[in-house]
Amino acid sequence: MRSLLFLVLISFCWADSYVANFTLERDRIFHIHENGPRLLVKAEESKVFSQRGGNITLPCKFYRPHAPSDFGLHKIRIKWTKLTSNYLKEMDVYVEMGYHKKSYGNYQGRVSLKKSTENDVSLVITNIMLEDYGKYKCEVIEGLEDDTAIVALNLEGMVFPYFPRLGRYNFNFHEAQQACLEQDAVIASFDQLYEAWRLGLDWCNAGWLSDGSVQYPITNPREPCGGKNTVPGIRNYGFSDKDLSRYDVFCFTSKFNGRFYYLIHPTKLTYDEAVHACLKDGAQIAKVGQMFAAWKLLGYDRCDAGWLADGSVRYPISRPRKRCSPTEAAVRFVGFPDKKHKLYGVYCYRSYQ
Ligand SMILES: *[C@@H]1O[C@H](CO)[C@@H](O)[C@H](O)[C@H]1NC(C)=O
Repeated sequence: MRSLLFLVLISFCWADSYVANFTLERDRIFHIHENGPRLLVKAEESKVFSQRGGNITLPCKFYRPHAPSDFGLHKIRIKWTKLTSNYLKEMDVYVEMGYHKKSYGNYQGRVSLKKSTENDVSLVITNIMLEDYGKYKCEVIEGLEDDTAIVALNLEGMVFPYFPRLGRYNFNFHEAQQACLEQDAVIASFDQLYEAWRLGLDWCNAGWLSDGSVQYPITNPREPCGGKNTVPGIRNYGFSDKDLSRYDVFCFTSKFNGRFYYLIHPTKLTYDEAVHACLKDGAQIAKVGQMFAAWKLLGYDRCDAGWLADGSVRYPISRPRKRCSPTEAAVRFVGFPDKKHKLYGVYCYRSYQ
């Protein structure tokens, strides 16, 4: 009953705005006043949360206030698309009409409609990937009528800044995207960076974000980072040339399905020895994103500097203490040492899949 009232309310508001826009077309106004919209699409929640490897339902239902309940259901077309961060493009995810069903790209085999009721066209996504993060559009089309609802899929995870062995400010946009993938991550969105800044991320080097903008988060205003007398916030360099401009990158990663660990080994290792030691242990040398995820999401703590796959040496500290990371919980960055130096241990990762 309550939802029916809600619908009636919506119909009135909708009709009112129509009246304002089309005061000249009197016939048409009256027609719409009597019938209201024929098709309405609603998402019960506009935001849902999950994590990598999880399953999620993006809610979406349609209502046809004037049609008999099962009339012409087979002619209704359901289309789920994903919006790009700047809303300029849509990517096909799933389409269904009657018995015809089609999923696209890497959604194949991972998406279906929930159909808990006849009007439930919520999208179920299984085995969530980092790339699934973003806004989705649920569109229902019946003849000439159509309506849409937007649902955002957020992932629990973390943002980390990244630059390569070559040094600071070396990636164009495309290389930045690739660099995150190689660290078991994806290039972060503005919303993800904003959330990280809210939780305290402070980084004084500008990095690419997924929308092609270049920004950096400052919680502690200081001279070299935009000025001492400025307010904390995300500093924005705006949209840069994706081929020619060079910056660092902000990557986003989430929970993994595997084991991250420091390899117990009798001696310190060169980089090549480190790679082989993990292989011999039935694992692989760990990636930067895996260390950040283990540190942030599992509270991993180890005061031993170890090689990672990109040739960097780091160690994750969750419990700050003397001689490790005295003032803050952090993934400490030792550097990109000469790969022949036999000075460090190694962090390995074994996938459960
Ligand atoms: C996700 O759904 C699939 C298929 O229904 C199921 O096999 C799997 O266990 C679910 N995964 C989680 C994390 O719930």
